[in-house]
Amino acid sequence: MSADGLVSAAASAEEQAFEAGLRPRTLTEFVGQRKVREQLSIMLEGAQARGRPPDHVLLSGPPGLGKTSLAMIIAEELAVPLRMTSGPAIERAGDLVAILTALSPGEVLFLDEIHRIARPAEELLYAAMEDFRVDVILGKGPGATAIPLDVAPFTLVGATTRSGLLTGPLRDRFGFTAHLDFYAPDELARVLTRSAGLLGVSLTEDGAAEVAGRSRGTPRIANRLLRRVRDYAEVRADGVVTRDVARAALRIYDVDGLGLDRLDRAVLEALVGRFGGGPVGLTTLAVSVGEEPETVEDVAEPFLLRAGLLIRTSRGRVATPAAFEHLGLEPIAEPLGRSQAPLFPDTGLLAEGGLLSGDGLLTESGALPDGGMLPDGGMLPDGS
Ligand SMILES: Nc1ncnc2c1ncn2[C@@H]1O[C@H](COP(=O)(O)OP(=O)(O)O)[C@@H](O)[C@H]1O
Ligand SMILES: [Mg+2]
Repeated sequence: MSADGLVSAAASAEEQAFEAGLRPRTLTEFVGQRKVREQLSIMLEGAQARGRPPDHVLLSGPPGLGKTSLAMIIAEELAVPLRMTSGPAIERAGDLVAILTALSPGEVLFLDEIHRIARPAEELLYAAMEDFRVDVILGKGPGATAIPLDVAPFTLVGATTRSGLLTGPLRDRFGFTAHLDFYAPDELARVLTRSAGLLGVSLTEDGAAEVAGRSRGTPRIANRLLRRVRDYAEVRADGVVTRDVARAALRIYDVDGLGLDRLDRAVLEALVGRFGGGPVGLTTLAVSVGEEPETVEDVAEPFLLRAGLLIRTSRGRVATPAAFEHLGLEPIAEPLGRSQAPLFPDTGLLAEGGLLSGDGLLTESGALPDGGMLPDGGMLPDGS
């Protein structure tokens, strides 16, 4: 029933093709992130005036906020070629040597998920970034020799969802670091209006606002929802995406008023349902939703934090009263987990109109099946 991944921030292969058509190509087309845009633009202009490649750039932030787009824009603004690779693709130092030595002068090298680069390759990168040189080691043990190879001056643009995982030496070699933050609803509305124009979709102002409000602060999600809403508008309405059309469409696709997706909801439901609102450690929480701790931390938490549904404390993750409210539940008296009262007494399991019916989180049939399980393998504790 749920369109899985509809509001996940990661992009599928098919979607990448679609996204390519919507990507902003220049800094002026890039919506929002005003400060980052301004700083970058000054830096790029300065470098161009000096006729030298600009400093290496590190872009951090949750998925779907425009890191790859910015990397492409940097190359575009500098009018230089862009070479794209990613941390996981560089398994051995040799992989990186091959890439670096093939760079042409001034080229931008985009290294996505840079925190996942193999350690030996990372060490090579230090000298490449600093001195435009790589040392290729031939042989092993005492007889090994290092052959220095020149690398053309280039600009490394690194992107990461987890800047905290970068080693100090690597981080220090970036002259410019920018953190991308979630977008405000009016910025997302602008992203949507721009995309609608490119796609030939008629989108009213209130339609854009409605979709923007459910896009989790993330342009990628906004564009994806626009696609679904457009389909609906064409099939079930007169093709115009108004607020009502957007609402009706997103209800069908099971996107709630805050745009929470399956993982977000699973995390919240576990936190509230299994752990009485917390505090609970990240690992325990992740295990209970069947995910890696990093996935919960990088993908679900940033937006839950930002939406004020979850907080991090020294003792673990805690659900806020707003989280209970969003799930259609009464906050328990002592939300910090000291209360051992059963959270879901037999009678109180379903709030009026279904546990998660608040603002269309589930479709109209919001009631739980008898087993007390939520759809999508959701998280209520058995039989409590
Ligand atoms: N600031 C922005 N203005 C307009 N569209 C954006 C912006 N940021 C992201 N997008 C859209 O969102 C999609 C995902 O952005 P992307 O750069 O791939 O994010 P990331 O690399 O951070 O995951 C892009 O295809 C683009 O259409
Ligand atoms: Mg990217």
